[in-house]
Amino acid sequence: MSTQASALSKIESALASDVREGLLRPGQKELPSTWLYDDLGSALFEAITCLPEYGLTRAEERILQSHSEAIAAEVWHPSLVVELGSGGGRKTSHILRAIGLHQPALLYCPIDVSAAALRACERELAQFAEVRPVEASYLEGLAIASRWRSPGQEMMVLFLGSTIGNFDRARAVDFLTVVGSQMSTGDSLLLGADLVKPVERLLLAYDDPTGVTAAFNRNLLGRINKELGADFDLRLFEHEARYNSEAQRVEMHLRAKVAHTVSIPSAEFAVSFDQGETIWTESCHKYRIEELDQMARTCGFRPAARWVDADWPFAEMLWIRC
Ligand SMILES: C[S@@+](CC[C@H](N)C(=O)[O-])C[C@H]1O[C@@H](n2cnc3c(N)ncnc32)[C@H](O)[C@@H]1O
Repeated sequence: MSTQASALSKIESALASDVREGLLRPGQKELPSTWLYDDLGSALFEAITCLPEYGLTRAEERILQSHSEAIAAEVWHPSLVVELGSGGGRKTSHILRAIGLHQPALLYCPIDVSAAALRACERELAQFAEVRPVEASYLEGLAIASRWRSPGQEMMVLFLGSTIGNFDRARAVDFLTVVGSQMSTGDSLLLGADLVKPVERLLLAYDDPTGVTAAFNRNLLGRINKELGADFDLRLFEHEARYNSEAQRVEMHLRAKVAHTVSIPSAEFAVSFDQGETIWTESCHKYRIEELDQMARTCGFRPAARWVDADWPFAEMLWIRC
């Protein structure tokens, strides 16, 4: 290994390995969406949630605002709430407040790869519970946090914001099955999932006229420049959101405007782009209710209750571990 590569932190090495694998593979170039969330990416994501075209976060917030007490009534006073990919945690206040009414000794563990998101989350939610952030990937974090449950007490896992939509359908089932395997019978999973809706509405949500989503997407290249010393010229890439109707998902891409080559010294390679070639950076799958109920059973849960927003079709589902 070269000195340059060995000087990388653990996170930079993982980024270098994903960038090398995703940009050098034959056919469609691809980068995992997890890397979108550095400090700037998390701030840009928060801005996306305020866009008039991005109805998803407001829909989920309306549901949680109106139904958190009903949700709390369905679960048996969990003493530990673990949130996968918490982000800034704004919506979670409704749930913690409702559960805290019956459970004064509430421990809340947000899990996220973004340190900036966890700092925001702690500021936002410290008034509702003891907050113990875990900077880790979903399953590593869940393995750590689930050890903090009090004996004989239940755990509630939150996976909000339709983050499950970033997994393709088969991987979503595998992922939720593993999440369930770290839970005990009677524990609950609150899962937010965006539903299928007219394509024009979806495309506007992921390609807003203000250009915030484009900045969020392009920042991935900025991050690779910063952390791996690459020389991506962000102005040579345009943001593209497309709907794949067969897979029922929005796909985000970065399209090279001209043919050019980029070098990525810390990952020890250079990569060429043809004019018009894209890097696929994120998928956001959209669901139908029946499919989600079936998914619950396949993954070892019982679908216990669900709430759907009327203005922006979005489902909040409460699943109980069988
Ligand atoms: C779509 S955002 C959702 C944020 C928040 N839950 C919401 O509903 O607004 C996804 C969040 O998951 C985090 N994330 C992405 N990949 C992750 C991973 N592999 N492990 C842990 N967190 C991850 C991101 O940093 C981001 O905060």
